[in-house]
Amino acid sequence: MTSATAARLDLGQLGFEHGAHLLVARALRALPPTGRLAVDGADPALGVHLRAWCRHRGHGFELDPEGGYELVSGRAEEQRWAGAERAGGAAPEQIVRRPPAHWGLAARGALVEAGGPTPSFDLDDRDVVWADLAPRLYAHAAAAQWDPATAVDWEATDDLPADIEAAVVQVMTYLVENEQAALVIPARLLARVHPHFREVQQLLAVQAADEARHVEVFSRRALLHGNQMGTSTAGGRASLTTLLSEPDFSLASFLLSVLGEGSFLALLSFLDQHAPDPVTRQVTRLARVDEARHVAFGMAHLQHQAALDPALRGRLRGAIERRHDALSDTAGLNADVFDALVVLAAGEWTPEAIARGYRAVQGLHAAMDEGRRQRLGRLGFPDDEAAELSALHTRNFM
Ligand SMILES: [Fe+2]
Ligand SMILES: [Fe+2]
Repeated sequence: MTSATAARLDLGQLGFEHGAHLLVARALRALPPTGRLAVDGADPALGVHLRAWCRHRGHGFELDPEGGYELVSGRAEEQRWAGAERAGGAAPEQIVRRPPAHWGLAARGALVEAGGPTPSFDLDDRDVVWADLAPRLYAHAAAAQWDPATAVDWEATDDLPADIEAAVVQVMTYLVENEQAALVIPARLLARVHPHFREVQQLLAVQAADEARHVEVFSRRALLHGNQMGTSTAGGRASLTTLLSEPDFSLASFLLSVLGEGSFLALLSFLDQHAPDPVTRQVTRLARVDEARHVAFGMAHLQHQAALDPALRGRLRGAIERRHDALSDTAGLNADVFDALVVLAAGEWTPEAIARGYRAVQGLHAAMDEGRRQRLGRLGFPDDEAAELSALHTRNFM
Protein backbone atom coordinates (compact mmCIF):
# COMPACT_ATOMS: atom_id res chain seq x y z
CA MET A 1 0.00 0.00 0.00
CA THR A 2 1.49 3.35 -0.98
CA SER A 3 1.50 6.27 1.48
CA ALA A 4 -1.64 8.31 1.55
CA THR A 5 0.41 11.51 1.23
CA ALA A 6 2.32 10.43 -1.89
CA ALA A 7 1.73 12.21 -5.18
CA ARG A 8 0.62 9.84 -7.93
CA LEU A 9 1.81 9.27 -11.46
CA ASP A 10 0.22 6.77 -13.86
CA LEU A 11 2.47 5.95 -16.81
CA GLY A 12 -0.12 3.80 -18.58
CA GLN A 13 1.67 1.66 -21.21
CA LEU A 14 4.68 3.98 -21.41
CA GLY A 15 8.02 2.37 -20.53
CA PHE A 16 11.52 3.78 -19.95
CA GLU A 17 12.52 2.70 -23.44
CA HIS A 18 10.08 5.23 -24.83
CA GLY A 19 10.58 8.26 -22.60
CA ALA A 20 8.86 7.46 -19.28
CA HIS A 21 11.77 9.12 -17.44
CA LEU A 22 10.54 12.52 -18.62
CA LEU A 23 7.22 12.15 -16.79
CA VAL A 24 8.87 10.70 -13.67
CA ALA A 25 11.50 13.47 -13.49
CA ARG A 26 8.84 16.14 -14.03
CA ALA A 27 6.67 14.73 -11.24
CA LEU A 28 9.66 14.55 -8.88
CA ARG A 29 10.68 18.16 -9.66
CA ALA A 30 7.28 19.27 -8.39
CA LEU A 31 7.98 17.71 -4.97
CA PRO A 32 10.02 19.03 -2.06
CA PRO A 33 13.16 17.00 -1.10
CA THR A 34 12.08 13.67 0.50
CA GLY A 35 8.61 14.08 -1.05
CA ARG A 36 7.07 10.80 -2.15
CA LEU A 37 5.77 9.78 -5.57
CA ALA A 38 3.68 6.65 -6.23
CA VAL A 39 4.20 5.38 -9.78
CA ASP A 40 1.88 2.97 -11.63
CA GLY A 41 2.29 1.53 -15.05
CA ALA A 42 1.68 -1.50 -17.23
CA ASP A 43 5.08 -1.82 -18.89
CA PRO A 44 6.50 -5.22 -17.78
CA ALA A 45 10.05 -3.80 -17.41
CA LEU A 46 8.94 -0.72 -15.50
CA GLY A 47 10.18 -1.88 -12.09
CA VAL A 48 13.68 -2.78 -13.33
CA HIS A 49 14.11 0.44 -15.25
CA LEU A 50 12.62 2.65 -12.58
CA ARG A 51 14.92 1.21 -9.91
CA ALA A 52 18.03 1.69 -12.05
CA TRP A 53 17.04 5.22 -13.02
CA CYS A 54 16.40 6.18 -9.36
CA ARG A 55 19.78 4.81 -8.29
CA HIS A 56 21.53 6.77 -11.02
CA ARG A 57 19.68 10.00 -10.18
CA GLY A 58 19.93 9.66 -6.40
CA HIS A 59 16.23 9.11 -5.67
CA GLY A 60 14.89 6.54 -3.24
CA PHE A 61 13.00 3.51 -4.66
CA GLU A 62 10.59 1.31 -2.71
CA LEU A 63 8.36 -1.58 -3.68
CA ASP A 64 5.02 -1.81 -2.02
CA PRO A 65 3.43 -5.20 -1.29
CA GLU A 66 0.76 -4.68 -3.95
CA GLY A 67 3.40 -4.44 -6.67
CA GLY A 68 3.40 -0.62 -7.00
CA TYR A 69 6.45 1.58 -6.77
CA GLU A 70 7.09 4.53 -4.51
CA LEU A 71 9.93 6.99 -5.07
CA VAL A 72 11.47 9.38 -2.56
CA SER A 73 12.76 12.57 -4.11
CA GLY A 74 16.53 12.92 -3.52
CA ARG A 75 18.82 15.91 -3.51
CA ALA A 76 21.41 14.68 -5.98
CA GLU A 77 20.00 16.68 -8.90
CA GLU A 78 19.85 19.78 -6.76
CA GLN A 79 23.44 19.21 -5.57
CA ARG A 80 24.67 18.67 -9.11
CA TRP A 81 23.71 22.25 -9.95
CA ALA A 82 24.73 23.69 -6.57
CA GLY A 83 28.07 24.97 -7.90
CA ALA A 84 26.63 26.04 -11.25
CA GLU A 85 26.62 29.66 -12.38
CA ARG A 86 25.00 31.70 -15.14
CA ALA A 87 27.30 32.55 -18.06
CA GLY A 88 26.36 36.22 -17.82
CA GLY A 89 22.99 37.35 -19.13
CA ALA A 90 21.61 36.27 -22.48
CA ALA A 91 21.18 39.74 -23.97
CA PRO A 92 24.06 41.71 -25.52
CA GLU A 93 23.53 44.38 -22.84
CA GLN A 94 24.32 41.76 -20.17
CA ILE A 95 27.79 40.73 -21.33
CA VAL A 96 30.47 40.66 -18.65
CA ARG A 97 33.87 42.28 -18.96
CA ARG A 98 36.02 39.13 -18.60
CA PRO A 99 34.14 35.86 -19.20
CA PRO A 100 36.07 33.01 -17.54
CA ALA A 101 37.63 30.25 -19.65
CA HIS A 102 35.40 27.58 -18.07
CA TRP A 103 32.27 29.14 -19.56
CA GLY A 104 33.89 28.04 -22.80
CA LEU A 105 31.39 27.05 -25.45
CA ALA A 106 28.32 27.42 -23.21
CA ALA A 107 25.59 29.62 -24.64
CA ARG A 108 25.69 33.11 -23.14
CA GLY A 109 23.25 33.12 -20.22
CA ALA A 110 23.23 29.30 -19.85
CA LEU A 111 23.40 27.66 -16.40
CA VAL A 112 26.92 26.23 -16.50
CA GLU A 113 27.64 23.08 -14.49
CA ALA A 114 30.85 23.34 -12.46
CA GLY A 115 33.91 21.51 -13.77
CA GLY A 116 34.44 20.79 -17.43
CA PRO A 117 37.02 22.01 -19.93
CA THR A 118 38.69 25.43 -20.00
CA PRO A 119 39.34 26.09 -23.70
CA SER A 120 41.65 28.94 -24.50
CA PHE A 121 40.03 31.97 -26.15
CA ASP A 122 42.63 34.65 -25.59
CA LEU A 123 40.46 37.51 -26.92
CA ASP A 124 38.34 37.53 -23.77
CA ASP A 125 38.22 41.19 -22.77
CA ARG A 126 35.05 43.12 -23.60
CA ASP A 127 36.98 46.35 -23.80
CA VAL A 128 39.23 44.93 -26.51
CA VAL A 129 36.80 43.10 -28.80
CA TRP A 130 33.36 44.56 -28.18
CA ALA A 131 31.44 47.35 -29.89
CA ASP A 132 27.84 48.17 -28.98
CA LEU A 133 27.19 48.36 -32.72
CA ALA A 134 28.18 44.69 -33.25
CA PRO A 135 24.71 43.06 -32.85
CA ARG A 136 23.10 45.56 -35.23
CA LEU A 137 25.95 45.34 -37.74
CA TYR A 138 25.74 41.55 -37.68
CA ALA A 139 21.98 41.62 -38.37
CA HIS A 140 22.57 44.06 -41.20
CA ALA A 141 25.42 41.94 -42.61
CA ALA A 142 23.35 38.74 -42.50
CA ALA A 143 20.47 40.46 -44.30
CA ALA A 144 22.79 41.94 -46.94
CA GLN A 145 24.34 38.68 -48.19
CA TRP A 146 24.14 38.40 -51.98
CA ASP A 147 24.54 35.48 -54.34
CA PRO A 148 27.42 35.91 -56.83
CA ALA A 149 25.54 33.76 -59.35
CA THR A 150 22.53 36.07 -59.52
CA ALA A 151 23.62 39.44 -58.10
CA VAL A 152 25.89 40.03 -61.11
CA ASP A 153 24.60 39.94 -64.69
CA TRP A 154 27.53 37.90 -66.05
CA GLU A 155 26.15 38.05 -69.58
CA ALA A 156 26.12 41.85 -69.66
CA THR A 157 29.55 42.19 -71.17
CA ASP A 158 30.92 42.86 -74.62
CA ASP A 159 34.45 42.08 -75.69
CA LEU A 160 36.68 45.01 -74.76
CA PRO A 161 39.81 46.07 -76.67
CA ALA A 162 42.58 43.66 -75.64
CA ASP A 163 44.66 46.18 -73.70
CA ILE A 164 41.63 47.50 -71.77
CA GLU A 165 40.64 43.92 -70.94
CA ALA A 166 44.23 43.28 -69.81
CA ALA A 167 44.02 46.29 -67.47
CA VAL A 168 40.82 44.91 -65.95
CA VAL A 169 42.43 41.48 -65.52
CA GLN A 170 45.45 43.06 -63.79
CA VAL A 171 43.31 45.04 -61.36
CA MET A 172 41.17 41.97 -60.61
CA THR A 173 44.30 39.87 -59.97
CA TYR A 174 45.48 42.49 -57.48
CA LEU A 175 42.05 42.65 -55.83
CA VAL A 176 41.92 38.86 -55.37
CA GLU A 177 45.32 38.91 -53.63
CA ASN A 178 44.11 41.61 -51.24
CA GLU A 179 40.77 39.92 -50.65
CA GLN A 180 42.58 36.73 -49.67
CA ALA A 181 44.43 38.59 -46.93
CA ALA A 182 41.14 40.22 -45.88
CA LEU A 183 39.57 36.75 -45.65
CA VAL A 184 42.31 35.09 -43.61
CA ILE A 185 42.64 37.83 -40.98
CA PRO A 186 39.05 37.90 -39.60
CA ALA A 187 38.90 34.10 -39.87
CA ARG A 188 41.99 33.81 -37.65
CA LEU A 189 40.79 36.43 -35.18
CA LEU A 190 37.32 34.99 -34.80
CA ALA A 191 38.68 31.64 -33.63
CA ARG A 192 40.37 33.49 -30.75
CA VAL A 193 37.31 35.49 -29.59
CA HIS A 194 35.60 34.16 -26.45
CA PRO A 195 32.16 32.85 -27.52
CA HIS A 196 30.59 35.04 -24.82
CA PHE A 197 31.06 37.87 -27.37
CA ARG A 198 29.19 35.90 -29.98
CA GLU A 199 27.96 38.85 -32.03
CA VAL A 200 31.61 39.75 -32.66
CA GLN A 201 32.34 36.17 -33.75
CA GLN A 202 29.25 36.19 -35.98
CA LEU A 203 30.21 39.50 -37.51
CA LEU A 204 33.75 38.30 -38.24
CA ALA A 205 32.34 35.08 -39.73
CA VAL A 206 30.08 37.02 -42.10
CA GLN A 207 32.99 39.34 -42.90
CA ALA A 208 35.06 36.30 -43.91
CA ALA A 209 32.12 35.07 -46.00
CA ASP A 210 31.94 38.51 -47.67
CA GLU A 211 35.62 38.26 -48.59
CA ALA A 212 35.10 34.74 -49.93
CA ARG A 213 32.49 36.17 -52.32
CA HIS A 214 34.79 39.03 -53.28
CA VAL A 215 37.53 36.53 -54.13
CA GLU A 216 35.01 34.67 -56.27
CA VAL A 217 33.55 37.59 -58.22
CA PHE A 218 36.91 39.26 -58.88
CA SER A 219 38.42 35.95 -60.04
CA ARG A 220 35.40 35.29 -62.22
CA ARG A 221 35.56 38.75 -63.80
CA ALA A 222 39.31 38.29 -64.45
CA LEU A 223 38.64 35.05 -66.34
CA LEU A 224 35.46 36.15 -68.10
CA HIS A 225 37.11 36.51 -71.52
CA GLY A 226 40.38 34.64 -71.08
CA ASN A 227 42.22 32.16 -68.95
CA GLN A 228 45.26 34.13 -67.79
CA MET A 229 45.53 36.12 -64.54
CA GLY A 230 47.79 39.19 -64.19
CA THR A 231 50.92 39.69 -62.10
CA SER A 232 51.57 39.51 -58.34
CA THR A 233 54.60 41.38 -57.00
CA ALA A 234 56.81 40.61 -54.03
CA GLY A 235 56.15 44.11 -52.67
CA GLY A 236 52.38 43.70 -52.76
CA ARG A 237 52.54 40.38 -51.00
CA ALA A 238 55.05 41.73 -48.44
CA SER A 239 52.57 44.46 -47.54
CA LEU A 240 49.76 41.96 -47.03
CA THR A 241 51.99 39.58 -45.08
CA THR A 242 52.68 42.27 -42.46
CA LEU A 243 48.91 42.34 -41.88
CA LEU A 244 48.76 38.58 -41.37
CA SER A 245 51.54 38.65 -38.79
CA GLU A 246 49.89 41.22 -36.47
CA PRO A 247 48.60 39.18 -33.48
CA ASP A 248 46.99 42.06 -31.55
CA PHE A 249 43.23 42.25 -32.26
CA SER A 250 42.98 46.03 -32.07
CA LEU A 251 46.10 46.66 -34.13
CA ALA A 252 45.17 44.04 -36.74
CA SER A 253 41.71 45.50 -37.25
CA PHE A 254 43.13 49.03 -37.24
CA LEU A 255 45.63 48.21 -40.00
CA LEU A 256 43.23 46.01 -41.99
CA SER A 257 39.81 47.61 -41.56
CA VAL A 258 40.40 51.25 -40.75
CA LEU A 259 43.42 51.93 -42.96
CA GLY A 260 43.43 49.13 -45.57
CA GLU A 261 39.74 48.52 -46.24
CA GLY A 262 39.16 52.23 -45.63
CA SER A 263 41.55 52.97 -48.52
CA PHE A 264 39.83 50.29 -50.59
CA LEU A 265 36.51 52.14 -50.31
CA ALA A 266 38.06 54.90 -52.44
CA LEU A 267 39.62 52.35 -54.83
CA LEU A 268 36.32 50.51 -55.35
CA SER A 269 34.52 53.83 -55.96
CA PHE A 270 37.21 54.68 -58.52
CA LEU A 271 36.69 51.33 -60.29
CA ASP A 272 32.91 51.76 -60.19
CA GLN A 273 33.34 55.17 -61.82
CA HIS A 274 35.88 54.08 -64.46
CA ALA A 275 34.80 50.50 -65.14
CA PRO A 276 34.81 49.82 -68.89
CA ASP A 277 32.05 47.21 -68.68
CA PRO A 278 28.94 46.50 -66.55
CA VAL A 279 30.32 43.35 -64.90
CA THR A 280 33.40 45.16 -63.57
CA ARG A 281 31.13 47.93 -62.31
CA GLN A 282 28.73 45.53 -60.60
CA VAL A 283 31.37 43.45 -58.81
CA THR A 284 33.22 46.48 -57.45
CA ARG A 285 29.97 48.11 -56.35
CA LEU A 286 28.78 44.98 -54.51
CA ALA A 287 32.14 44.60 -52.76
CA ARG A 288 32.17 48.24 -51.73
CA VAL A 289 28.89 47.94 -49.80
CA ASP A 290 30.37 45.03 -47.80
CA GLU A 291 33.67 46.85 -47.23
CA ALA A 292 31.84 49.84 -45.77
CA ARG A 293 30.46 47.50 -43.09
CA HIS A 294 33.92 46.06 -42.36
CA VAL A 295 35.28 49.56 -41.89
CA ALA A 296 32.31 50.48 -39.68
CA PHE A 297 33.00 47.62 -37.26
CA GLY A 298 36.73 48.38 -37.10
CA MET A 299 35.96 52.00 -36.33
CA ALA A 300 33.22 51.17 -33.79
CA HIS A 301 35.30 48.88 -31.65
CA LEU A 302 38.39 51.10 -31.78
CA GLN A 303 36.31 54.14 -30.81
CA HIS A 304 34.87 52.07 -27.93
CA GLN A 305 38.37 51.11 -26.84
CA ALA A 306 39.89 54.59 -27.35
CA ALA A 307 37.26 56.01 -25.00
CA LEU A 308 38.38 53.58 -22.26
CA ASP A 309 42.11 53.43 -22.89
CA PRO A 310 44.04 56.66 -23.39
CA ALA A 311 47.17 54.65 -24.32
CA LEU A 312 45.47 53.14 -27.38
CA ARG A 313 46.41 55.94 -29.78
CA GLY A 314 50.09 55.54 -28.97
CA ARG A 315 49.86 51.83 -29.78
CA LEU A 316 48.04 52.54 -33.06
CA ARG A 317 50.73 55.01 -33.99
CA GLY A 318 53.42 52.45 -33.16
CA ALA A 319 51.71 49.86 -35.38
CA ILE A 320 51.72 52.21 -38.38
CA GLU A 321 55.36 53.12 -37.83
CA ARG A 322 56.50 49.52 -37.37
CA ARG A 323 54.71 48.46 -40.54
CA HIS A 324 56.16 51.39 -42.46
CA ASP A 325 59.69 50.46 -41.33
CA ALA A 326 59.13 46.79 -42.20
CA LEU A 327 58.05 47.76 -45.73
CA SER A 328 60.60 50.53 -46.34
CA ASP A 329 62.69 48.36 -48.67
CA THR A 330 59.74 47.05 -50.66
CA ALA A 331 58.30 48.53 -53.84
CA GLY A 332 54.74 49.11 -52.60
CA LEU A 333 52.04 49.08 -55.25
CA ASN A 334 52.56 46.75 -58.21
CA ALA A 335 53.52 49.07 -61.13
CA ASP A 336 51.30 46.97 -63.41
CA VAL A 337 48.35 47.81 -61.15
CA PHE A 338 49.17 51.52 -61.17
CA ASP A 339 49.39 51.51 -64.99
CA ALA A 340 46.18 49.53 -65.31
CA LEU A 341 44.32 52.08 -63.15
CA VAL A 342 45.60 54.90 -65.37
CA VAL A 343 44.50 53.03 -68.51
CA LEU A 344 41.03 52.33 -67.09
CA ALA A 345 40.55 55.97 -66.13
CA ALA A 346 41.94 57.12 -69.51
CA GLY A 347 39.65 54.82 -71.50
CA GLU A 348 41.61 55.36 -74.73
CA TRP A 349 45.19 55.63 -75.99
CA THR A 350 45.64 59.32 -76.70
CA PRO A 351 48.11 61.55 -74.83
CA GLU A 352 45.21 63.67 -73.55
CA ALA A 353 43.33 60.64 -72.29
CA ILE A 354 46.41 59.20 -70.57
CA ALA A 355 47.06 62.58 -68.91
CA ARG A 356 43.44 62.54 -67.71
CA GLY A 357 43.82 58.97 -66.43
CA TYR A 358 47.04 59.85 -64.62
CA ARG A 359 45.35 62.81 -62.92
CA ALA A 360 42.44 60.58 -61.94
CA VAL A 361 44.82 58.11 -60.22
CA GLN A 362 46.49 61.01 -58.39
CA GLY A 363 42.98 62.04 -57.35
CA LEU A 364 42.44 58.49 -56.08
CA HIS A 365 45.55 58.74 -53.91
CA ALA A 366 44.29 62.05 -52.53
CA ALA A 367 40.84 60.57 -51.81
CA MET A 368 42.40 57.61 -49.97
CA ASP A 369 44.57 59.98 -47.92
CA GLU A 370 41.60 62.19 -47.09
CA GLY A 371 39.54 59.18 -45.97
CA ARG A 372 42.36 57.88 -43.75
CA ARG A 373 42.88 61.28 -42.15
CA GLN A 374 39.16 61.60 -41.40
CA ARG A 375 39.03 58.16 -39.79
CA LEU A 376 42.18 58.85 -37.77
CA GLY A 377 40.55 62.12 -36.67
CA ARG A 378 37.48 60.21 -35.47
CA LEU A 379 39.80 58.03 -33.37
CA GLY A 380 41.06 61.18 -31.67
CA PHE A 381 44.25 62.01 -33.59
CA PRO A 382 44.78 65.75 -34.14
CA ASP A 383 44.86 66.87 -37.82
CA ASP A 384 48.63 67.19 -38.17
CA GLU A 385 49.31 63.78 -36.63
CA ALA A 386 46.55 62.19 -38.73
CA ALA A 387 48.15 63.61 -41.89
CA GLU A 388 51.59 62.37 -40.85
CA LEU A 389 50.31 58.86 -40.06
CA SER A 390 48.21 58.64 -43.22
CA ALA A 391 51.35 59.38 -45.25
CA LEU A 392 53.11 56.40 -43.62
CA HIS A 393 50.40 53.98 -44.77
CA THR A 394 51.53 51.28 -47.21
CA ARG A 395 51.73 52.32 -50.86
CA ASN A 396 50.06 49.00 -51.67
CA PHE A 397 46.78 50.59 -50.38
CA MET A 398 45.92 47.48 -48.23
FE1 LIG B 1 36.66 42.44 -49.58
FE1 LIG C 1 36.69 43.59 -46.23
